[in-house]
Amino acid sequence: MRNPLDAQSLALVTTPAVDLEAEADLTRCGALKDFWYVACLATELPKGKPLARTVLGTNLVLFRDEHGRPAALRDRCLHRNARLSAGDVFHGRIGCPYHGWTYDASGAVVEVPSLGPSQCGEALDAQGHARAGLQVRPCDLGKLQRFDTLEQDGLVYVFMGGDSKRARRPAFRVPYWGQPEWTVYFMVTRFPNGVTNLVENFMDVPHTVFVHRGWFRDPARKRVPARVKRSEGSVLVTYQQEQDTVTGLGRIFNPSGLPMVHTDHYFIPNITRVDYMWGERSGFAINSQVTPIGPTDSLVYTAISYRLPYDLPRSLVARALMPLVRWYTTQVIRQDVDIMKVQREGLTNGPGGGVFAGTEADLLHADIEAYRRWLLEGGHGEGPADEERGIVFWI
Ligand code: FES
Ligand SMILES: [Fe+2]
Repeated sequence: MRNPLDAQSLALVTTPAVDLEAEADLTRCGALKDFWYVACLATELPKGKPLARTVLGTNLVLFRDEHGRPAALRDRCLHRNARLSAGDVFHGRIGCPYHGWTYDASGAVVEVPSLGPSQCGEALDAQGHARAGLQVRPCDLGKLQRFDTLEQDGLVYVFMGGDSKRARRPAFRVPYWGQPEWTVYFMVTRFPNGVTNLVENFMDVPHTVFVHRGWFRDPARKRVPARVKRSEGSVLVTYQQEQDTVTGLGRIFNPSGLPMVHTDHYFIPNITRVDYMWGERSGFAINSQVTPIGPTDSLVYTAISYRLPYDLPRSLVARALMPLVRWYTTQVIRQDVDIMKVQREGLTNGPGGGVFAGTEADLLHADIEAYRRWLLEGGHGEGPADEERGIVFWI
């Protein structure tokens, strides 16, 4: 795909409209469905309890099978279409709350109480049904649509595009997960906006001095040069600002005033990773995976990984600081939730929403949109060409 920008027009960035409706619709989202999406935290899915989630506009019921593996089915009973997520899980199967039809993790009906006493409390195999004289076997009643799942790094992923062998990328690895020097925790936030606008917000530096003023970055009248590299389905922004600082927790992470190295990285289709490093021994990585619920609603799974430069036993310091880091990140995320709601209100205010104007500071957003549009249109061919450019903006 041709780059929408050429070198001469870098100062003024315009891109075609973003179609948030199509992006969040399983039947219209093209290749956007051919990726693993986070369905829930592993801890949100205990054994024996169902969980309702909506991914790409599709209602799912999640539960764990008898081996503890996550399963995902369409959240609609074959019988009279009641929502299965309102039912119960027992022995790794889900029972409908309306008439008790029971399904296994493959989506097969294994028990229909109205078929008779032999159906109560026990699933019969083919011979068992023959012996019981049943005309209809539960498995004759059809199968619920099931979706492939995967549990990794504390997250449960679901694949909405059919056979997960077709996945365009492996499920994303949480930064520093399982590394002893690092502490990792998750936050789950419902955001009132679509995936494109959210990943752009998480990669956006100019907003920090407005939305997070005093919390994260203060307006500094500073010129920020950066390199924007679009390649292999990712957009990497490397800031070349001397003496960049973040307010708030920055002082705890950087007591000796080392230079901060800041990179923002987007990965198709829905992932960002923001890194702040101070030397080798101290850093903060924020990884956000955005799961589309609908056109302007998403669940964001944020993995916060941090490492502190102090020599005290790591677990002690990390544990002592955890409430503070959690509280701080919650405040910052709340500010983003509020501004994403404000953006949605403008976006949905009559026709024309989703057409964005921009300057050099928005080049990375144009690159993200180019990738997402290519996937929305089916993701054929090579996709947006690799490119690396320098930009300058002010904060
Ligand atoms: S609607 Fe599910 S068992 Fe009847
Ligand atoms: Fe923000």
